[in-house]
Amino acid sequence: MLKKFLDKIICGDALRVLKKLPSNSIDMGVTSPPYNKRENKKGWLVDKVVYKGATDNLPEAKYQELQIKVLNELYRVVKPGGSFFYNHKIRWEKGLMLHPMDWLRKTKWVIRQEIIWDRRIAANIRGWRFWQVEERIYWLYKPKRGNIIGDELRSKHALLTSIWRFPPETNNPHPAPFPLALPLRAIYSIMDNKKGGLVIDPYCGSGTTLVAAKILKHHYLGIDISADYVKYARERLKRLSEEKGVIEELSKHVVKKTFKERKQRREFVGRYRKMEADKQPDTWFDYLARRDLLAGSKATN
Ligand SMILES: C[S@@+](CC[C@H](N)C(=O)[O-])C[C@H]1O[C@@H](n2cnc3c(N)ncnc32)[C@H](O)[C@@H]1O
Repeated sequence: MLKKFLDKIICGDALRVLKKLPSNSIDMGVTSPPYNKRENKKGWLVDKVVYKGATDNLPEAKYQELQIKVLNELYRVVKPGGSFFYNHKIRWEKGLMLHPMDWLRKTKWVIRQEIIWDRRIAANIRGWRFWQVEERIYWLYKPKRGNIIGDELRSKHALLTSIWRFPPETNNPHPAPFPLALPLRAIYSIMDNKKGGLVIDPYCGSGTTLVAAKILKHHYLGIDISADYVKYARERLKRLSEEKGVIEELSKHVVKKTFKERKQRREFVGRYRKMEADKQPDTWFDYLARRDLLAGSKATN
């Protein structure tokens, strides 16, 4: 049953497609849904976001209801012990704050962490509020056998902080893509050096999550309502070697000392291990091949 969904991008409505998927079958997911920006919002520095093939203009209560339904379907299809990374932002409607927590707490997910995505730039130059340069990423967790805390991240991933700093993607025809580093970080941190898992993005747009999953040698399943973006994402997945920024992101997941070593030496501040200039690989293929060799020959932290 699941086989027919492996490494596919389905053009359709997220909720409808999710309802067709078997329960407890997906390892993890990453997504950024439409934000219900009502298509009348644009910053003074950027154009308003308008998707091809979908409107982003629901009454807010309906929007939140829909997001709860989608998130609960995702909860059903993800395996116990699985994670989902949900990118959203704080919005304001007639001066009142709309916070993603308003609806996330009404879903079945355990909210494991709120991560700040520091995009470093804001869309607006007016001063109604301080510059909103951040978005949020919610790490959602599906408990396994009643354990709501879940497994510990390996120290090389956990050394990354709860503030993720990368600028928005600019080299992409989609109006609102996230940078490849974002799903790469999420997937690699959870799946570590495992391969062959299944990663879902129910609003996959230009396919960034699917590209990250494929680079890390997992299967993917994408859904998007726009035939144009589905076509673009399928083409993009065939040109994987052109993806930029893979080494920069993955080489951040290497530490000098493990948790245990740091504890023994009472060192509370961890450090990344910097890659020496002469050891910089030419392509991310070389980088991954070397990392796999290392992982095969000795335990990595
Ligand atoms: C914020 S964008 C996702 C961008 C993606 N993360 C990327 O990097 O390209 C949201 C996407 O949701 C899609 N969308 C809007 N309504 C949808 C629906 N009901 N079902 C599935 N996809 C939908 C839009 O076409 C858009 O591509």
